[in-house]
Amino acid sequence: MATEEPHAGPRHVAIIMDGNGRWAQAKGRPRLFGHHAGAKRVKEIVRACKPLGVKYLTIFAFSTENWKRTQSEVSGLMSLFRQYIRRETRGLIDEGVCVRFIGDRVRLDPKLVKLMDELEESTAGNDVVNLTIAINYGGRDEVARATRRLAKDVADGKLSPDEVNEETLPKYLDTRVLPDPDLVIRTSGEARISNFLLWQSAYAEYEFVNTLWPDFSDEEFQKVVGSFGKRKRRFGAVPA
Ligand code: IPE
Ligand code: IPE
Ligand code: MG
Repeated sequence: MATEEPHAGPRHVAIIMDGNGRWAQAKGRPRLFGHHAGAKRVKEIVRACKPLGVKYLTIFAFSTENWKRTQSEVSGLMSLFRQYIRRETRGLIDEGVCVRFIGDRVRLDPKLVKLMDELEESTAGNDVVNLTIAINYGGRDEVARATRRLAKDVADGKLSPDEVNEETLPKYLDTRVLPDPDLVIRTSGEARISNFLLWQSAYAEYEFVNTLWPDFSDEEFQKVVGSFGKRKRRFGAVPA
């Protein structure tokens, strides 16, 4: 049974990187300027994981709801993702980062999907840090897509309805190869999940910090990760 390990750090940290727009606005700059600054932080935070013992880092880059933004912000973000992959591939390989993407790829530009596939392939053998990037990701959408695949397997006789349980269902989620997050951090002062990892974070610890994502420093990351060890995780049990 999963019981608490008093001073163990989080193995899997998930981050809702929020506040890029407000950060840029406060400087009188366009929102996209904030997204570019946010992408630079990603690079540093990924580097900060290894010495902290964070083996899995999952970051929320674009939600299924973010299509509601202006066309110029959406296309700016999509080209930033392409740019990020092109620019960072070499460094990610050299640093031993294994990159995966979660979210529905169907609505994404095929050019972006190709870059995502290539980055996954070229980093597949790495295991220093596992970086998962959520693009066009929504927890509800993920569960709905998983259920659709599961229902197909039931219809095809590959799975019996009696076999549907907490162990088999997650095998249909985008995150099937990942452990559940231990710690979910959200920046920018908003205290909500916004459709991130709904199933997976059932027992995650949450940390909401006021800092806007482009200002979220390595030091603050270290502090938040460090304070995780002081939490008492009970998983529903009564401690002895
Ligand atoms: C988070 O920053 C990045 C994305 C959602 C793509 P926001 O763009 O949501 O920034 P705020 O919340 O408007 O400040
Ligand atoms: C959540 O941030 C999505 C990402 C960080 C990618 P949002 O800024 O979209 O969330 P809401 O709209 O404030 O809930
Ligand atoms: Mg936001």
